[in-house]
Amino acid sequence: MKNIDSYTHLRGESVYLDDIPLINGTLYAAVFDSPVAHGKIISLETRDAMKMPGVVSIFTVKDIPGENQIGGIVPDEELLVGEHVHFCGMPIALLVAETEEMARLAIKKISVEIEPLPVITDPRIAKEKGELIIPPRTFKIGDTTAAWAQCEYVFEGSTETNGQEHLYIETQGAYAVPQENGVIKIYSSTQGPTVVQRTAARVLNIPMHQIEVDTTRIGGGFGGKEDQATTWAVMCALATYHLKRPVKYSLQRMEDMRMTGKRHPYSSDFKIGLDKDLKILAYEATFYQNAGAAADLSPAVMERTLFHCTSSYFVPNVKATAYSCRTHLPPNTAFRGFGGPQGMFVIEAAIAKAAEALSIDAAVIQQKNLLHTGDEFPYGQKAVSEANECWNKAVELYDLEKLKKEIRDFNEANKFYKKGLALMPICFGISFTKTLMNQARSLVHVYTDGSVGISTGAVEMGQGVNTKILQVAATIFSIDPAKIKINTTNTYRIANTSPSAASATADLNGKATEIACNAILTRLKQVAADEFKTELSSVELKEEWVYINGEKTGWDWKKLVMATFVKRISLSEHAHYTPAHIHFDLTKEKGHPFAYHVYGTAIITVTIDCLRGIYEFDSVKVVHDFGNSMNMMIDIGQCEGGIVQGIGWMTMEEIVYDKEGNLRTNALSTYKVPDIYSVPKEIAIHFLETQKDNLAIFRSKAVGEPPLLYGLGAYFALRNAVKAFNPAAAIPFDAPMTPEKVLMSLYLQRLKDSSINSIKEVMEK
Ligand code: MTE
Ligand code: HPA
Ligand code: MOS
Repeated sequence: MKNIDSYTHLRGESVYLDDIPLINGTLYAAVFDSPVAHGKIISLETRDAMKMPGVVSIFTVKDIPGENQIGGIVPDEELLVGEHVHFCGMPIALLVAETEEMARLAIKKISVEIEPLPVITDPRIAKEKGELIIPPRTFKIGDTTAAWAQCEYVFEGSTETNGQEHLYIETQGAYAVPQENGVIKIYSSTQGPTVVQRTAARVLNIPMHQIEVDTTRIGGGFGGKEDQATTWAVMCALATYHLKRPVKYSLQRMEDMRMTGKRHPYSSDFKIGLDKDLKILAYEATFYQNAGAAADLSPAVMERTLFHCTSSYFVPNVKATAYSCRTHLPPNTAFRGFGGPQGMFVIEAAIAKAAEALSIDAAVIQQKNLLHTGDEFPYGQKAVSEANECWNKAVELYDLEKLKKEIRDFNEANKFYKKGLALMPICFGISFTKTLMNQARSLVHVYTDGSVGISTGAVEMGQGVNTKILQVAATIFSIDPAKIKINTTNTYRIANTSPSAASATADLNGKATEIACNAILTRLKQVAADEFKTELSSVELKEEWVYINGEKTGWDWKKLVMATFVKRISLSEHAHYTPAHIHFDLTKEKGHPFAYHVYGTAIITVTIDCLRGIYEFDSVKVVHDFGNSMNMMIDIGQCEGGIVQGIGWMTMEEIVYDKEGNLRTNALSTYKVPDIYSVPKEIAIHFLETQKDNLAIFRSKAVGEPPLLYGLGAYFALRNAVKAFNPAAAIPFDAPMTPEKVLMSLYLQRLKDSSINSIKEVMEK
């Protein structure tokens, strides 16, 4: 089935925040943010701004009726600066004017005097100074100290992975509208309507039932709107609270890039030990997470780094420690993969280092150590693994040996173009790592004309969750999908929702919908059973007709619905779902946190131009464990998007903050994201239909985040291509591998090494 949004998307009719018709009298907000990364506010001057045309009001910390606090996991983040600024871009004042232009012009007239304080941007320095968001955590299995002695080979190293800008097409924004009796309705471009509701209530000091949050869909989130949509929604609500007028704020791209957090950069150390058969016996890792100035979701992201530190491999002795380090950058936040990719990069780097030192193919080590069913993860859960199935199928289906030969031949035949290849096996745990967040509700109404309306906590952000939920209802009722409407996500209809995140949205909300539909279906069938004087078990609904013992009756869906209504039997259901069996003991760092895991293997090939350092990805060939996909088109879309986003992170997207904590890459002219030309020439996706029992909706496994991990292979393919040109290249494990870095690694070592004095000489040799 096509994504149900494709029709309105194509016609430009899909409603995003900026498409909501505005009410007469709407005002526009703009935020004045800190130009300094760390300091104490001496004075704030707003008088000139107040005199600007159209300015209605300027709010500061003094105007907050409740708590000046938006921190979710740790209460350490102010909505508006109190005394100290902690990052460039931290909101200091909220200005409201008659038009958007007036607001943005007036904001320039605000000035602030800040006494600067020392700025930390490096997580390792923050850790040395004791600037930690939460105490460090360690995951352990076996005994690494004892294991080193049994290792034939031991390698150590360090890695860096940079941040990543979400670049959702729709920037952050919200529109708050006053209702009667002090209620505020907030249209928010958020992945987490309940987070917005809860935080607005806290800041305004009013009960949650006074805040209605409504989201039709969002123009992408990628994790960036799991927590950080809240700021802008609460800003609008604050102004509405005081002015009793509708207030809208839709951020410009540069405001968004400057003021919001990104994927967490990590700096990490590893030590890996292998036996003579190349089995990994021991692995130690230390992760320094650059959390930015406040916790935001960093503790949860850090936790997922630990959960995924051994990636798709079984390692019997592991010790991994993570530090969430407070720096003076905008608080970093959720981003597709949620810390998992950062952890997995490190073990892949460790394997690459071992392979390079032993002059063997990294794939040999990767393959020998893939997880098998029954293997224990460092956190205690036992794997139900598809890792070997995916790997073996990829090797066979895409003829790895032939691919390798083609690359060898190409590299021998070409002097200034070189190809590289890497395999990337993945394993990603599905569930919120915080167990309590794994719950969802669905409200299903069957109307008397036979049409159906569904509300859940799921937010549609392009990932197709609404289509999947609609498919659940269409399948259970066995009715035409056109009869079903998925309603907006609204906190008045569905309460206490978890954000749409962790790739689990379709599983959680889909299963709640399944339960609700089944409850209604049972009541409908009972009505039919009574009418046809038979048992409930004899009744079946097929393609909108009632069947008794396999015989079609004269009753269709509509007639059955009406008969049920006439009998005064409920045609509505509100259902609750939570996956059984998941748990985690924080005191032991052991448990069974994930409903299941998603596996896959990608083979990635790249060609570099050794004169220019630029490169093109020839192909990404994937065997992915979809379980039993309920929507192949949507799932392919998620794979392709994830792969390209992952490649972008690993190769071209380079976030640069200067020492003063200013974002230098604050626009699309300085921050390069993948475009159509940088997409691999071929992306092949093979559906491994795995029939093993799992907790996925209709056994169709979660697909939102895992494919991003294939992008890690792009880094290692590039490395191998560089090595084909310059075997001596000492390439630091420092992602992204931009064309500049490729060029340097092609030549730098050679220049350093020898009597060669110029790149020209290198090329001549
Ligand atoms: N796909 C699109 N088109 N837009 C998005 O914002 N977010 C990703 C992924 N795929 C995203 C996306 C992230 S970070 C997550 S967690 C999942 O979708 C969330 O949706 P799901 O739980 O329904 O998979
Ligand atoms: N994934 C995504 N978002 C989250 C998680 C998680 O595991 N935990 C809390 N928010
Ligand atoms: Mo996704 S990072 O869990 O929103």
